[in-house]
Amino acid sequence: MALTVKPTQATLGAIVTGVNLARLDDATWTAVEQAFLTHAVLIFPGQHLSDDAQIAFGHRFGNIEQLVADREIVPISNQRADGTLLKDDEYGMQIMRGNEGWHTDSSYMKLAAKASVLSAHVVPSEGGETEWADMRAAYDALDDVTKARIANLSAYHSLHYSQSRIGHKAAVGSSYGFHNDSPPLRPLVKVHPVTGRKSLFIGRHAYGIPGLTPEESEKLLDGLVTFACQPPRTYKHSWSPGDVVVWDNRCVLHRARPFDHGEARVMRHTRIAGEAASELAIAS
Ligand SMILES: [Fe+2]
Repeated sequence: MALTVKPTQATLGAIVTGVNLARLDDATWTAVEQAFLTHAVLIFPGQHLSDDAQIAFGHRFGNIEQLVADREIVPISNQRADGTLLKDDEYGMQIMRGNEGWHTDSSYMKLAAKASVLSAHVVPSEGGETEWADMRAAYDALDDVTKARIANLSAYHSLHYSQSRIGHKAAVGSSYGFHNDSPPLRPLVKVHPVTGRKSLFIGRHAYGIPGLTPEESEKLLDGLVTFACQPPRTYKHSWSPGDVVVWDNRCVLHRARPFDHGEARVMRHTRIAGEAASELAIAS
């Protein structure tokens, strides 16, 4: 098998074939890592990884962020273990509904995420895609006035904030991310620790830019997301069971697309922790 990396028509993303992620030798890993840094989203169709293989692939990128104690892979699913489906007003569905807004994983934690691995196990007949937006290309496309305006701005990031905007008030400590600590503060412009490229670090968890009123802050941040998440900077993947995707949370936003909640959508997720030198909040 020859590794093939086929870039999408968007500014980010590539389809990678000719590789078995469950048996990744070091030379192939180096090529995959290089493609990850270049394209920021890698789609591997038809891998059908076991949980252990997905976890091992995650470890290639760094330390695993445990969303549930002692677990390195977690379900993202509207289906319970007994096969029944969650109802729209249930807690788990509120979290899934939140995932439909543009975000980057764990920006609300003191240490934001480096990368995320997602695999498809059961997919609905329609919808339920994942879409990514390139924050490197978005930053490059900003006019000089906006670049100068945001150069020294930061925003707080909070899951309480983002969920409350969709009408979900979660109790402190109710699940991962709903912590009681003061929220982390992060610059709006992030420099990628490996490539050195600048990108917008925004999304639904960001709010409360110091020096701006809440209204000014919300208007600026919403405007940046709207501008950033437009073609040719977006790519949407329609899942088939067995597909695996990894993306770089340091420079892309992502969102889930809606689907009929009368059908099951079962994904499995492994999150790779950021590095303290580059993903630790500047203050909280
Ligand atoms: Fe996410």
